[in-house]
Amino acid sequence: MKLDLSCSVWVLAVGLLPLVQITAGSILGAAVNIELLDQDRSQPVRAHYSVVSSLPCPSLDELCNGGDCVDQLSSSPLTGALPSPGWCLHEWQKNIPKHHTSALQLGSDRAVPLYSRADLSVRADTNRVNQPPFVALPPPVRLQAACPQQIPVNVMDLDGDEIRCRYKKTDLGEFLQLNEETCTLLYEGGAHLGQYSVQIMVEDFPPSLKNQIRSEAFSTVSVHLLITVESGAGCSVVPEFTGVSPAGGAVIHVLPFEEVHVNITVDSRVQSVSEIAVTGPPGLFISQMEIGQNFQSSVTLSWVRGPNPFTHLLSVCFAANTPSLQSNVRCIWLQQTQTDPLPPGTELKCKERELQMSLVLPITFLENLHFSALQLNDPTCPVFYNSTHVTATFPLTGCGTKRMHLGSELVYTNTLRSINPNTTISRVATLILPLACRIPGQQAKGPAFKISIPEEVKTFGVVSFWLEFHPPGEGPMAAETRLPRLRGSPPVREARELRATRKMDKLDLHVFSNCSLARAELMVGRCVESETENFKNTRPLLNQGCASGNGTLEILISNSTVRIFRLYLGSLGIKGDTMYVECVVHLCVTTKQTDRCLDPCTETPDLTIVDSILTRSYTVRSGPVPLIKVTETTTTAKPTQTTNPVTQPSTSQVTTASASHAVDTGAFWIITVSLCVLMLLP
Ligand SMILES: *[C@@H]1O[C@H](CO)[C@@H](O)[C@H](O)[C@H]1NC(C)=O
Ligand SMILES: *[C@@H]1O[C@H](CO)[C@@H](O)[C@H](O)[C@H]1NC(C)=O
Ligand SMILES: *[C@@H]1O[C@H](CO)[C@@H](O)[C@H](O)[C@H]1NC(C)=O
Ligand SMILES: *[C@@H]1O[C@H](CO)[C@@H](O)[C@H](O)[C@H]1NC(C)=O
Ligand SMILES: *[C@@H]1O[C@H](CO)[C@@H](O)[C@H](O)[C@H]1NC(C)=O
Ligand SMILES: *[C@@H]1O[C@H](CO)[C@@H](O)[C@H](O)[C@H]1NC(C)=O
Repeated sequence: MKLDLSCSVWVLAVGLLPLVQITAGSILGAAVNIELLDQDRSQPVRAHYSVVSSLPCPSLDELCNGGDCVDQLSSSPLTGALPSPGWCLHEWQKNIPKHHTSALQLGSDRAVPLYSRADLSVRADTNRVNQPPFVALPPPVRLQAACPQQIPVNVMDLDGDEIRCRYKKTDLGEFLQLNEETCTLLYEGGAHLGQYSVQIMVEDFPPSLKNQIRSEAFSTVSVHLLITVESGAGCSVVPEFTGVSPAGGAVIHVLPFEEVHVNITVDSRVQSVSEIAVTGPPGLFISQMEIGQNFQSSVTLSWVRGPNPFTHLLSVCFAANTPSLQSNVRCIWLQQTQTDPLPPGTELKCKERELQMSLVLPITFLENLHFSALQLNDPTCPVFYNSTHVTATFPLTGCGTKRMHLGSELVYTNTLRSINPNTTISRVATLILPLACRIPGQQAKGPAFKISIPEEVKTFGVVSFWLEFHPPGEGPMAAETRLPRLRGSPPVREARELRATRKMDKLDLHVFSNCSLARAELMVGRCVESETENFKNTRPLLNQGCASGNGTLEILISNSTVRIFRLYLGSLGIKGDTMYVECVVHLCVTTKQTDRCLDPCTETPDLTIVDSILTRSYTVRSGPVPLIKVTETTTTAKPTQTTNPVTQPSTSQVTTASASHAVDTGAFWIITVSLCVLMLLP
């Protein structure tokens, strides 16, 4: 039967939110996963807890009772807005006995028990110790009271065991059925509005269990969901994930130091998407949501695998929320691929001064490998081999070497891999060897790098940069440039020399970005000026963000997303009637709220390493900037006839041709660049 809902939707939507009451600081979801430690410990199991709690975000101490909880957070927690008042995700680990129930409690709320049980014996079928199953913790689940809906409980087992789910407790009674074999909850509709606790135990059984009598489970982990039943948009079509979004249950293998990017796009026709709620491992970065055409909204998730104490299998779950609807929850898995120890004699040297990495790898352990097919990220860089060793020496600034920030350190990575053109021949071995150098650090031998947990990786969204030129005291920042606070003192001779001429003596160069990240700082590196559009001969205006010579002074302003420089045209010796300006810019955010990005003029970047995340550098060019004085009368012209010497479009160039296009706004140049979510790649 086709339901006609079009007219009822908005009426119902209005009454939704006030009906659902959530007390601050309650637990909206929790999961425990376990991994085995070496056998000889008194507490042989490491538990990894994930807890979604409502805002205000509690501290770990409030959640972890009884001591030795190790916070896995390295920066601010993941958060979401719905259900109101919003939530945050905490993750921590703790060593526990093999049978254990932790009672998580916030304030005077009912405690949430999370049961886990590990089997430490060697399995007869695999001759190994069993690996417990994994269960994913989704963002808070929201249901429409009247509408049937499936809620998958996402589980995974690295041994390939059969997984079964069973209720530990359900408050939703007959409204919610659990398919124990597929681990799917089926809400049948009809429950009263409110929040319902559902606790599920996840167990693994030998794979051939089907059609056999139930044997005993190897091990148990648990998940607790607080399901919010809302009224609202009737049984409208909920938002749906489309094409590029990974399928539920997808597994992404992640090598050490590898970056993972996942695009999620959701199609929502009834209501617009207000957030794509995501839960995932510490350090997972979620870009700002972009709203595209055809009812689509999307985000990109990014994660870098640094050395970490997390589980081998990490879940990432997402759901799109509109004010009164929620898409199905999808989860994917990030599997941290375990790498073999490198053979003795392997040597990876990081030569900081030469900015080089060099590898010597004995090859006796590698059989059936085509050494001629070994390559670095950039296949044109040479890899040498003789009968005993493979060697490669390559620059940190080339050969496809990536640079990334992990914690307080800068890490350079490349990968040596064998490319086998005959993909059908499977007997040929494949080598994938991630190489990494950490700065600071003299030498790193083998794979045992000491690197702290990755900090949150920041994004800047799609940002454009542009240059504007205004006479002092004019333009959008007139208040700041009329009586400027200058960094340094202005040259004295220019005024006298130029007053009589028709040329301007001072002009303010404004560098803008539309980055909406509140803490982002716009950094301007080198700026040059040329009389010609092709920048054949250039003159420096700024050198690494510092005044170059004495013709350029920065005007200190309070807004960190704009930079203004006063150009004393006489002192700069600019001759013609027009000039062209090119600047290299980037954005910076520090990972700690209290830090500021390094000021290139006052600090030596080598001495202090502030945890900051930079975008790559972009080159922004102006169009022709007229240097002839404008008469007083024309400055009162209509705003459309810009009388300020704002640059006019002519040509533009950006260093990253593929990721950019120029937009002709008519008033000044906008160069749009897609700042790729992650890393600084100089
Ligand atoms: C994600 O989207 C970006 C920009 O649209 C695109 O460049 C990239 O290839 C996509 N990545 C994946 C894994 O689909
Ligand atoms: C192969 O190269 C390695 C590293 O350069 C060197 O130490 C070794 O002596 C070479 N072996 C032969 C047989 O040439
Ligand atoms: C690929 O296969 C062809 C024919 O089977 C063979 O001649 C060639 O040597 C192979 N190349 C490599 C790199 O294995
Ligand atoms: C910045 O401007 C560009 C081009 O106009 C636009 O695509 C982008 O979405 C804007 N970014 C923000 C954060 O407003
Ligand atoms: C500006 O710098 C030049 C050389 O750097 C110097 O010769 C000149 O005296 C300086 N002018 C002023 C006003 O400081
Ligand atoms: C900084 O300047 C930008 C661009 O003019 C403006 O959008 C933003 O609101 C300003 N921020 C502050 C804190 O003044």
